[in-house]
Amino acid sequence: MNSCVATANSTGDEYLRAQFDAVKMTMPLRAIGRVTAVSGLTIEAAQLPVPLGSLCRIHLMGGRTSTAEVIGFQSDRTLLMPLTAPTGVARGDRIENVTAAPRIWCSPQLLGRVLNGFGQPIDGKGPLPLAESRRIDAKSPAPLDRTNIRQPIATSVRAIDGLHTCGLGQRMGIFSGPGVGKSTLLASISRFTSADISVIALIGERGREVQEFIEHSLGAEGLQRCVVIVSTSDDSPLLRVRAARVACTVSEYFRDQGADVLLLMDSLTRMCQAQRQIGLAAHEPPATKGFPPSVFTLIPEILERAGKTAAGSITGFYTVLVEGDDFNEPIPDAVKGITDGHLWLSRALANRGHFPAIDMQQSISRVRGDVIDKDHATAVRRILSLSAIYQDIEDLVNIGAYVPGVNLEFDLAVQARPKIIQYLQQPPDDPSDLELSRRKVVDLAGWIDQMDKALRAQAAKVNRAGGPVVAQAVGAPKAVSA
Ligand SMILES: Nc1ncnc2c1ncn2[C@@H]1O[C@H](COP(=O)(O)OP(=O)(O)OP(=O)(O)O)[C@@H](O)[C@H]1O
Ligand SMILES: [Mg+2]
Repeated sequence: MNSCVATANSTGDEYLRAQFDAVKMTMPLRAIGRVTAVSGLTIEAAQLPVPLGSLCRIHLMGGRTSTAEVIGFQSDRTLLMPLTAPTGVARGDRIENVTAAPRIWCSPQLLGRVLNGFGQPIDGKGPLPLAESRRIDAKSPAPLDRTNIRQPIATSVRAIDGLHTCGLGQRMGIFSGPGVGKSTLLASISRFTSADISVIALIGERGREVQEFIEHSLGAEGLQRCVVIVSTSDDSPLLRVRAARVACTVSEYFRDQGADVLLLMDSLTRMCQAQRQIGLAAHEPPATKGFPPSVFTLIPEILERAGKTAAGSITGFYTVLVEGDDFNEPIPDAVKGITDGHLWLSRALANRGHFPAIDMQQSISRVRGDVIDKDHATAVRRILSLSAIYQDIEDLVNIGAYVPGVNLEFDLAVQARPKIIQYLQQPPDDPSDLELSRRKVVDLAGWIDQMDKALRAQAAKVNRAGGPVVAQAVGAPKAVSA
């Protein structure tokens, strides 16, 4: 817990920890400066020689206080950004350091709780026990401390488990333009996953969506195995970035206890936008399409904290808003380069009422080959290649220019299309078992093979008779249930 925001459970222990951190960071135990200027989200202070990231308390007129964090320096001035509303900050106000290392309290009792960006409960269910204090800016596991990803994780979504299977410890991006179903997909994964615990970070979301997510998407039962960290769009940018770090820290705590944790972050883009505000307030140059360099160091810092270690695993799903549906924007591009795969949600599919709107061709799970068996892999390849063929001829089919009998693979793609669509579509409240999803994919590939043989036999027969092949006339093999 952060020592600058006193709560009912603040103790002397907490105060001592802040002092120990100060000693470790060779930070002056007490530095007192003065506010010299305020410009937008930047507060300038004089005589405040404290390290970057230090938390400071500003003493306002009338005995009130405000909290700010050191974000940079310029000549002899210290630049700070407010964490709580800066209303009332005036030139000459006294400003003192509180701590150099942000920490939160972790315990098994975090389960079922909703926290803010300080790691403090905001659900009115009382204070948390002070069990284990952890720094929120911990380092990611060293490359050689990581173990290989060899076990699949069940997300309950057929399209993912069956065709883009993910592994324990994998990091996946969920990309789409606005309103295509990222949050709905994430909510359904969090509710029905096979992971032991879900840690959900709602960053920069609308306040209305948070309540709806906790009450409706998650429900009281779902919440019992989750920890939710919330920082809404009206919070300080610093708090929004902190919420991402708090979520990583809580996940690491449970991973180190031996749990398989699912970390869901909605959205990584809003965290980046918050970091952009921080960077610009600290006078960083806006380097890539208005994003300062610190954004591109924060992305790997956050994403690399997931992964599998000898103790447990953190599997990460991070939503990325793609402005103007442009996949090559700087943030999606940077995320794509670090994650172990991505799911692309297509607006065209959503407009047709196809949910979850995952575009199978544009999505990839880089660890799929390591977590599924040979039969499953063969079946996936068959279905995905047939879907790709259908995409090539879709326009012809839609305008009625497609002629059956010219190309057997085209005919097969058209015949298999309804079965594949039936498999992929799934309501968010109808979970599917991992083994069932796998079996359906293998069965579907079997059905496609039978249909292939039937079409070829029919073509050979018609060729011998010297007439055209009519694919629709072929008797379909026994139906596969989706
Ligand atoms: N699985 C689904 N089944 C039916 N409708 C869905 C499904 N997923 C999304 N939708 C529809 O799409 C709308 C937007 O979904 P959602 O809020 O999940 O999108 P989003 O990508 O998170 O949006 P934003 O970018 O604004 O955060 C929902 O209100 C709902 O109408
Ligand atoms: Mg959303």
